[in-house]
Amino acid sequence: MEENETVISLENVTVRLAGRTVLDNVGFEVKRGEFVAVLGPNGAGKTMLMKLLLGLLKQAEGSVTVLGKPPRRGNREIGYAPQHRVLETDLALRARDVVGLGLDGNRWGIWLSGRKREELIDNVLKEMDVYRLGNAPAGQLSGGEQQRVLIAQALIADPEILLLDEPLSNLDITHAQEVILLLTKRLCPSKQKGAHICHERKVTIMLVTHDINPLLPIVDKVLYMSDGRGVMGTPEEIITSETLSKLYRTKVEVVRSGGRVFVAGAET
Ligand SMILES: Nc1ncnc2c1ncn2[C@@H]1O[C@H](COP(=O)(O)OP(=O)(O)OP(=O)(O)O)[C@@H](O)[C@H]1O
Ligand SMILES: [Mg+2]
Repeated sequence: MEENETVISLENVTVRLAGRTVLDNVGFEVKRGEFVAVLGPNGAGKTMLMKLLLGLLKQAEGSVTVLGKPPRRGNREIGYAPQHRVLETDLALRARDVVGLGLDGNRWGIWLSGRKREELIDNVLKEMDVYRLGNAPAGQLSGGEQQRVLIAQALIADPEILLLDEPLSNLDITHAQEVILLLTKRLCPSKQKGAHICHERKVTIMLVTHDINPLLPIVDKVLYMSDGRGVMGTPEEIITSETLSKLYRTKVEVVRSGGRVFVAGAET
């Protein structure tokens, strides 16, 4: 593994859908082991960016590489938890089967014994605090429970990159904190606090959120988006009145208080 290896790279990327520019000349690099929070108001292009990295959309201009190659669908090196409830209410599949889908097609898929597979599913269900719901029909779980099942599915194959689209938005405070702690552990198994000075990081995470505050202790960078445009840097560089006013093209006020950061004058 190369140190400081770039795992995601976008150069002057523009994506158009139905004649609309949904990503507008976006460029950034993510290094292996970085934890990037993706922020920005509704319609900014956060989900479209994830879809681009998953190979579900194609850019009209610019270049995109993920783990050194153009994005491709079904890449098992990427774990993805989509934003919205995607499970149909009449989905009879058990929660544990939904989680297991995260293993199918994986490099282990071929030789993973039934027992080993069930064990992996049990472990990740426990990690996400949905073990007791493993046999329940997935479609009948609550929004937050489904969210945790889908995060479990994204984590189970131990992917190189995790793309998590608003994984915390349906969760109560306790479960949100648990998920953050879990991600911190994945980032740096031996060190759960101050994970950004960890040298053993493997997994790279891009996580969409509307609230950066709970993530400030562990986030390396933020990608702030507005109207298809984006700027990336450390939270200190990006979450400033000057940078955000420029991005939003309107006056934005950033207030810091008690270790927290508040953005006023613009929707986040
Ligand atoms: N198929 C499509 N055709 C045209 N425009 C689309 C299509 N899909 C999405 N868009 C537009 O792309 C823009 C970016 O959408 P996206 O879903 O990435 O926003 P987002 O930043 O994830 O917002 P949210 O916080 O609401 O999830 C929106 O204006 C949306 O209307
Ligand atoms: Mg979205």
